[in-house]
Amino acid sequence: MLNRTPRHLAIIMDGNGRWANKRNLSRSEGHNQGTRAARSIVEEVRRLEIPYLTLYAFSRENWARPREEVSFLFSLLGRFIQGELQSLIKQDIRLNILGELDELPMPTRKVVNHACSKTKSCSSMNLNLALNYSGRHEIVRACKAVMQKGLSPDDLTEEVFSEYLYTAGQPDPDLIIRTSGELRISNYLLYQSAYSELYFTPTLWPDFTPQELRTALEDFATRQRRLGRVESI
Ligand code: FPP
Repeated sequence: MLNRTPRHLAIIMDGNGRWANKRNLSRSEGHNQGTRAARSIVEEVRRLEIPYLTLYAFSRENWARPREEVSFLFSLLGRFIQGELQSLIKQDIRLNILGELDELPMPTRKVVNHACSKTKSCSSMNLNLALNYSGRHEIVRACKAVMQKGLSPDDLTEEVFSEYLYTAGQPDPDLIIRTSGELRISNYLLYQSAYSELYFTPTLWPDFTPQELRTALEDFATRQRRLGRVESI
């Protein structure tokens, strides 16, 4: 089975700090530039008519960063979402959050909830922001929800279980891109990535352009996805 474009593209946007370091700029400036890259990639994915895009914006492990960086990231994310809201509505993009929203600062929660509710009837594309996200936490959370529901073990299938994940109702990612040369999945979409194709590039996130996205998609288009089956002739 040969691929064309993915239905669900997921990205680990890595390398903002190194991008800034190389230029003697602050890490905050790296994150600022990272939001520019995020904006142009969202627009490109919309143009390419890929219906699901997931961006890893903040992991539960990211709380271990210096306090000033964490609060800068939340204020930047809040400004980004607020600043993009009209454009998301115009592009008919629905915003969803994957992660524990309740643990975030109140101003961030308010902006996020407002944007999610304003875009909830948009249907040309889904933009998932993984925010305060951890793949293992997501799986444990789903197990707890299944137990609380009192589901009988006989009724629990892979399909039923996936309805308890943040991505309920969405297709699994076909392609996961990670920038900055790190070759890891870093607790990202652990359940959903079982058969995802992986694409790694040394490009640092602020330098990741729509052109490079198209290169990654061309590479994806040549891959044979056997999904565990024998190769067909
Ligand atoms: C990785 O750079 C990026 C993050 C910590 C995630 C935050 C991403 C952005 C602010 C980009 C914009 C995204 C959105 C959704 C607006 P890093 O700090 O880990 O880089 P390093 O590994 O080089 O230090």
